[in-house]
Amino acid sequence: MARAIVADRKANPMPVDEDVTSALLATRVDGAPLPEEMIVGTIRQVLVVGIIAPSVMIGSIAVHLGRDQALQAHLRANPALVPAAVEEFLRLYTPYRGFARTAVRDVTIRGRTIPAGEPIALVYASANRDEDVFECPHEFRIDRPNMKDPLAFGRGTHSCVGAALATLELNVAVEELLAAAPGFTLTGEPKPTRFPEIGALSVPVAFEGAA
Ligand code: HEM
Repeated sequence: MARAIVADRKANPMPVDEDVTSALLATRVDGAPLPEEMIVGTIRQVLVVGIIAPSVMIGSIAVHLGRDQALQAHLRANPALVPAAVEEFLRLYTPYRGFARTAVRDVTIRGRTIPAGEPIALVYASANRDEDVFECPHEFRIDRPNMKDPLAFGRGTHSCVGAALATLELNVAVEELLAAAPGFTLTGEPKPTRFPEIGALSVPVAFEGAA
């Protein structure tokens, strides 16, 4: 897919402020274009993260709602609550368990010093269930006072550039899932994703009233 997109934009360039592939192809560093393999890798990476995380999240949400008929009915009757529910689902079912960083200076956190240059893992999925930050962290609660604190999309310079798009996708997916039938239930065990994601790769559900 990435190679096809790069080949297409080489043949049919688009405005650089509208299309990231065209922008990368037009970039010059010290007068030289970027290596094509670097551009292919960048586009591939965006495609991979853009495809995997939302689908894994939708799977996790389907599992939760399939097991919680009361919440399912509540959200179906009150669609205005879906955005808040999606925020809470992102906290509970953060699909990327963590990311790597390297400490740029010595830093002491809770009495533990991480020296400059040390590689560290930021385990977002664990942080999102930190009992010092989230009361009863394993419970779904739609009215948490600190709904904006979770780290599902990371934090800082490298936080997810697709966060707004992903949130929109998840809202549409939950609305459609709830609107598809008066109810749905799980009919078997969900199939888990492989490392490094956490969540559901596929979820067997039966929709009420479906043949
Ligand atoms: C539920 C869906 C998604 C989740 C939970 C998610 C989560 C994340 C996380 C945790 C990071 C890394 C932050 C860090 O390094 O601290 C990230 C980075 C990134 N995400 Fe997402 N993501 C999602 C969907 C998407 C989508 C749909 C796209 C694009 C279409 C996307 C594009 C990216 C890109 C390009 C980066 C790298 C940003 C950088 O390094 O500067 N993501 N995402």
